[in-house]
Amino acid sequence: MIYTDGKQFLLEGKNYGYAMFVNGDGFLQQLHYGGKMKREDVAYLAETYASIVPNHWINKDEAFDYLPSEYGFYAKGDYKEPTAIFERQDGASMSRLRYDSYRVEKDAPKIVGMPHVRSGDETLVITLKDDFSDIEVDLYYTVCENSDVLVRNAVIRNVGKKPVMLKRAFSFRVELANGEYQLLRLAGRWGQERIPEIAPVAHGLTRIHSLRGSSSHQTNPFMGILRKDCGEESGECYGVQLVYSGSFALTAEWSKYGALTLQGGINVTGFGWELRGGESFVTPQVLLTYSNAGMGEISREIHDFLRERIINPAYAFKRRPVVINNWEATYFDFDNEKLCAIITAAANLGIDTFVLDDGWFGNRTNDFAGLGDWFVNEEKLKGGLKKVSACCKEHGMKFGLWFEPEMVNEDSELFRAHPDWALCKEGVEPMRSRQQLVLDFTRKEVVDYIFGVVSKIIKENDISYIKWDMNRYVSECYSASLPYHRQGEVMHRYILGVYDLAQRLLDEFPDLFIEGCAGGGGRFDAGMLYYFPQIWTSDDSDGYERTKIQCGTSLCYPLSSMSCHVSVCPNHQTGRTVPFDTRGRIASLGAFGYELDVTKMTDEEKESVKAQIEAYKRTDRLILNGELYRLSNPLESNYFCMLVVSKDKSEAYVVGERGLCIPFWSDKFYPRIRLRGLDNNAFYEIEELKTVLSGGALLGAGLPLPKTGDFGSWAWHLKKVR
Ligand code: GLA
Repeated sequence: MIYTDGKQFLLEGKNYGYAMFVNGDGFLQQLHYGGKMKREDVAYLAETYASIVPNHWINKDEAFDYLPSEYGFYAKGDYKEPTAIFERQDGASMSRLRYDSYRVEKDAPKIVGMPHVRSGDETLVITLKDDFSDIEVDLYYTVCENSDVLVRNAVIRNVGKKPVMLKRAFSFRVELANGEYQLLRLAGRWGQERIPEIAPVAHGLTRIHSLRGSSSHQTNPFMGILRKDCGEESGECYGVQLVYSGSFALTAEWSKYGALTLQGGINVTGFGWELRGGESFVTPQVLLTYSNAGMGEISREIHDFLRERIINPAYAFKRRPVVINNWEATYFDFDNEKLCAIITAAANLGIDTFVLDDGWFGNRTNDFAGLGDWFVNEEKLKGGLKKVSACCKEHGMKFGLWFEPEMVNEDSELFRAHPDWALCKEGVEPMRSRQQLVLDFTRKEVVDYIFGVVSKIIKENDISYIKWDMNRYVSECYSASLPYHRQGEVMHRYILGVYDLAQRLLDEFPDLFIEGCAGGGGRFDAGMLYYFPQIWTSDDSDGYERTKIQCGTSLCYPLSSMSCHVSVCPNHQTGRTVPFDTRGRIASLGAFGYELDVTKMTDEEKESVKAQIEAYKRTDRLILNGELYRLSNPLESNYFCMLVVSKDKSEAYVVGERGLCIPFWSDKFYPRIRLRGLDNNAFYEIEELKTVLSGGALLGAGLPLPKTGDFGSWAWHLKKVR
């Protein structure tokens, strides 16, 4: 709901209120972001808001350092990081953005060329005008009444004739009232993505960012802001999440009077954008989520929001294929016979999609050559992909194929024909990561070419699924097609090129299912989820390490978005052996599949695969639609435990895993685990325990943690019986 009289604004979602007003000098000021309030309260907050400026010796101009500007402009005594900077041709960049007007639109704005929220109830658009230049900024706020997610972004418009250089163009600024806050970030590295880290916010600028051209393994465009004492199940907290996949920044900075200023959007380092007369610059959207019931609630709100309003509706709630991928089974060493043997064996086990990974194209016998040459290597695959496709058809399986569309090896026909299509500068030795260079996706002809060759392969071979990989970061960010003063646009234009290719493929093949990947989970973000309903979570599929990765990822991404496969032991990344049923249960908490050589399995193992797939098909609807409760965090205890409950609370699925086998009494952990999210007054049958207990007992007293061996696990299926 949006209330306004043209001077005061109150936005209301399910449990939050967000208030602003235009002060006597015409500046838009934030008054409140937190729990709900009444319309009548806004006037009082507005009247008294200047009380946060401490005393008489501060003159009006200096007050900007204290006042909560809704969009921070440069200079005028506000020394916090500005939200936007626009430099005019005379070099001046100070600005003074004053409130001009507002409008309310039905629905969410449709942003062309960038991922965005697909629907919303109402959108408030507030226009600010700069006193000193021809710049206008539209601030967008989309409210969804049944949700605690508020969507924001800013559109910067040059309404004059002369070009202006944007040197910073963040999407939003928000201030949280005084309190002690902790910041939760998702940190990591290859094979260990999105591991949560919580620390108090200190003075100075706290910044989470990526300069890698992708959201990256090291960090993620999400931050949680937790009031002191907030935890998983209680307390006030906020989620801040960008719908963006390129180099980003999110910052937190204490203001002088103890409010916490949050901002973010496209990374500032290296950024510059020439905004010509009449042009607009659309910043990426940010999802702000509020909860007064702990981080668990933030996660559930975000999961619902992403599933209902960001992920491709054709797939968001659709049962996902059970996949067999040949990467860890064969790496580059395969031929048509080997693949067909895998397909045949997999089909007999109930797997429904075969995904042929890296190595089927160009001169690709290892990772030194071939990227960019998207035509089949007939020497390796005699009879071509048609034969693989036919084998899949014969066994009633769908066929998926791996691509790495953004990359090129120097040893490739594509690079030999178009050396200038790689992002690098003549005379500068480029960084070669995994022996490859990044294609210049800022250039339309490059994206057109890749679209042409990839579409041809899809059409000719009946491909219904692709795995879109990105195995290195962007480093020498220089495009031969742009003049010197526009090189600052390359990083952002690059990711726009990626979005463009994804959208064009989906337009051309509306039934195509795309799984994202980036050297494991190096580009797992809400932007990619707009195009790819699921993303390969990590190259580390060890059944224990995955509990940490999936737990961290679940903070702001739904289970159905995490592609999780059972792989062979000893695990190829960790060397560890984890029981087969544990690997299956952990993988069942996502989009399920296998990454091993099924032809080498014993009959007993094959029977286990069949049983795992049957079990998965009993719970996959919960994974798609259910509400997630993290019952035990493997980073804080010896147990991992997650529960997913149906929206009507009639069914639940619990998976747990014990870490190393240590006696209960030496554990920090009480040996019973309390369930969550169930109906307190109902009775539930717990199938594996052959017992019926009340919701009250399950929520209040809990169930005893099973005693297992190292990395042992369990699953409980709960059904409401009365
Ligand atoms: C990345 C992916 C793997 C596999 C390889 C192929 O590392 O994460 O799953 O596709 O590339 O080169």
